[in-house]
Amino acid sequence: MPNKPQIAEDIYILGIESSCDDTAAAVLCNGKIQSNIVATQQVHQQYGGVVPELASRAHQQNIVPVIHQAIAKANIGKKEISAIAFTRGPGLMGSLLVGTSFAKSLAMGLGIPLIEVNHMQAHILAHFIEEEGFKKPAFPFLAMTISGGHTQIVKVNDYFSMEVIGETTDDAVGEAFDKSAKILGLPYPGGPLVDKYANEGDPKAFKFPKPKVSGLNFSFSGFKTAVLYFIEKQTREDPDFIEKNLKDICASIQYTIVEILMDKLKKAVKETGINRVAIGGGVSANSGIRNALYDAEKRYKWQCFIPKFEYTTDNAAMIAIAGHYKYLKKEFSDFSTTAQARYKI
Ligand code: KG4
Ligand code: ZN
Repeated sequence: MPNKPQIAEDIYILGIESSCDDTAAAVLCNGKIQSNIVATQQVHQQYGGVVPELASRAHQQNIVPVIHQAIAKANIGKKEISAIAFTRGPGLMGSLLVGTSFAKSLAMGLGIPLIEVNHMQAHILAHFIEEEGFKKPAFPFLAMTISGGHTQIVKVNDYFSMEVIGETTDDAVGEAFDKSAKILGLPYPGGPLVDKYANEGDPKAFKFPKPKVSGLNFSFSGFKTAVLYFIEKQTREDPDFIEKNLKDICASIQYTIVEILMDKLKKAVKETGINRVAIGGGVSANSGIRNALYDAEKRYKWQCFIPKFEYTTDNAAMIAIAGHYKYLKKEFSDFSTTAQARYKI
């Protein structure tokens, strides 16, 4: 159990995240992790994607035990919590509503401030969690948020002053991983499995097309279709094609996706003149993109910020750190605040 910091002005933030299919709660003290609990919903696996109604119901079942566990593991009493931060959006409405309603009721019951957090800002602010051995990016920096729902390049001027300078015009990069994986017969979410097989395959074995999109924007729907046509053609000729070539196919898919991301990131660095680059979101767990950034540090002298694995996929520690910085600015929410499925940075 963590030792409780003893300073009089200790700020304890309880963070609650329920935007998609992970029910999560975390307690931070002065920006340092005291607990970080995530209940990942298994129910969606059999459907090959998140089923919104089932996600909402699972959040309702998980939220009390998850919050209870986060507070207990932090070794504090509810009365010691300074404020409650929650994900207001973007995300699935039915999922967001569970966390939002719970956060509002608990903050009201405890008589403490309520702090709404934008999930995408939180993926970026995860870099400000106090962690030994991890440096925080100086402002301004570029953040590429890559997840199952989003793909953006953001110019971060300050904690809450962010500008989207590029984004996907259709599918998110996580969907490109997951849908390609589904075509290969891998279970949802397929991204981590593609990564695993890719590590043992030849990235140049097969060639997939890179989309031509202007500026700093992305497009991934054509990529998924290219993978589908390629696999259909190959399996017509050899029904065992996937089985025989799985590692090489995964490596080639990952290689192309990472190239698409890195091409735009290099363009963004060139256009803005900012060479501090951070990544966040589920896909930032991918070994291909991580290695590409380590390489860019050496080759282009970028300063890269790569999150710890537990802060890549959805978690509540990132919500709590965003809440911490809002708490310092006394940016509290009104109890009339509501969940917002579409919520811009
Ligand atoms: O941020 P996140 O947990 O949820 C959203 O907000 O979407 O991201 C989930 C996405 C999924 O598409 C999952 O397949 C992908 O992140 N992902 C990965 C890896 N780990 C998670 N994709 C590629 N390689 C990985 N290692
Ligand atoms: Zn996310």
